[in-house]
Amino acid sequence: MKIRKAVKKDLKEIGMLMKREFQKPPFNERDSINAVLKSLNFYFKTGHIYVAEKDRRIVGVVVFKTEQYWEGPVVIIEDLAVDDKFKKQGVGKGLMDYVEDYAKKKKCKSISFSTHKKSDAVKFYKKKGYKPEKHTIIMRKGLK
Ligand SMILES: CC(C)(COP(=O)(O)OP(=O)(O)OC[C@H]1O[C@@H](n2cnc3c(N)ncnc32)[C@H](O)[C@@H]1OP(=O)(O)O)[C@@H](O)C(=O)NCCC(=O)NCCS
Repeated sequence: MKIRKAVKKDLKEIGMLMKREFQKPPFNERDSINAVLKSLNFYFKTGHIYVAEKDRRIVGVVVFKTEQYWEGPVVIIEDLAVDDKFKKQGVGKGLMDYVEDYAKKKKCKSISFSTHKKSDAVKFYKKKGYKPEKHTIIMRKGLK
């Protein structure tokens, strides 16, 4: 497996992989491929997108950004997805290790993200040493 920075022409393949994965329960995302691509284009310009490749095929992706908090620079993961056929083969772990190496090199103080409470990914993240925040909740107001 090779991990490399995404190039612009990967975005469609990445978008389709992400759409396939996040339309499954518990996420049930129903946004169009165009909406996914708009977001990916945004993070391509403002954040970081890395892909895992096997036999020249994209089998996983991680999207993240860095922010400057009071504690110092931090990494926020926006999305992580592995193609169904390549799950449980170390691809997700490889992508997370890559982000952790990147964050350490940039002297970041933490890596965080939000995910669905009922996602199996919670077990995956716990294995990697991530824990739910004790005192933080996500507040949201939908706007019309
Ligand atoms: C979560 C996800 C990224 C894991 O990717 P993966 O490539 O299958 O994970 P890995 O093969 O690297 O697994 C690493 C470890 O986590 C464990 N693990 C992976 N998925 C797991 C699951 N669903 N339940 C329990 N443990 C799991 C593996 O068994 C492995 O354990 P080990 O180190 O003891 O062998 C992948 O299942 C996925 O894309 N899910 C759909 C999208 C998603 O939920 N994204 C994250 C939320 S934003």
